[in-house]
Amino acid sequence: MPLVSASEFLTAARENGYGVGGFNTNNLEWTQSILKAAQAKNAPILIQTSEGAAKYMGGYKVCYDIVADLIDSLGITVPVALHLDHGSYEGAKAALAAGYTSIMFDGSHFPFEENITKTKELVALAHSKGASIEAEVGTIGGEEDGIVGSGELADINECVAIAETGIDFLACGIGNIHGPYPENWTGLSFERLQEITTAVDGALGHKVPLVLHGGSGIPEDQIKKAISLGVAKINVNTELQLVFRDATNEYVKAGKDHEGKGYDPRKLLAPGFTAIVNEVENLIERFGTTEKA
Ligand code: 13P
Repeated sequence: MPLVSASEFLTAARENGYGVGGFNTNNLEWTQSILKAAQAKNAPILIQTSEGAAKYMGGYKVCYDIVADLIDSLGITVPVALHLDHGSYEGAKAALAAGYTSIMFDGSHFPFEENITKTKELVALAHSKGASIEAEVGTIGGEEDGIVGSGELADINECVAIAETGIDFLACGIGNIHGPYPENWTGLSFERLQEITTAVDGALGHKVPLVLHGGSGIPEDQIKKAISLGVAKINVNTELQLVFRDATNEYVKAGKDHEGKGYDPRKLLAPGFTAIVNEVENLIERFGTTEKA
């Protein structure tokens, strides 16, 4: 199946009360692992790159070609959207031009009116290409590829105004943060989440899928509750980085890179590869997306 917009499967997720993973990729191995896990679980997914990851991989066109060609050569039949995570105004345009089927325009650091104006323009551009678009209000805490946010709760009126630009799904701060959660984290604000869902769905007259950034390390009961209150896309990057690090560490610490041809990158990266397949399968199960393709 060719790459698709995320709009249809996220709307279905919101309506039917499950979450779809937005899994960040960083290289060829991760991309294969994520796609294989989605296929094994028969689940729709978004495979996403930050701007930094896309640059690291050789540019948007390389990312597009890798994902599109792997879908073909691995025989992936589940719906996959290639999504730009935390895109800048210019980055969003460049990713669409390269063939990304979904973008996030993160204008949360602009004055609100400018965020609205730029989002509107990118909604028209994305939709003219059949791509879906996510926007953000209220910064997500922590740091994601150089984008630093303090983790404030999103303003409800701003959520409504940005949803009215015609975006397909909305990222709004509800106490979530990128990277590992600190010891003193007080949890997600379900009160604010409920207020946002009520206001946004009420204003638009239909259920708008919400996006939970910072999905790594949130306890399972909080993820489930967030899904029940309107979250339909859950972003995960750090958890994949950690399992990849741990599996690679274990291999090296056991001295396996010194046994035979254990230094061959195909062997050296294999434990991390498998760890990501397993982790993505577990998360798909946890988000309720198994057999939802
Ligand atoms: P984590 O750092 O919690 O994995 O969040 C990833 C994310 O939200 C990407 O936008």
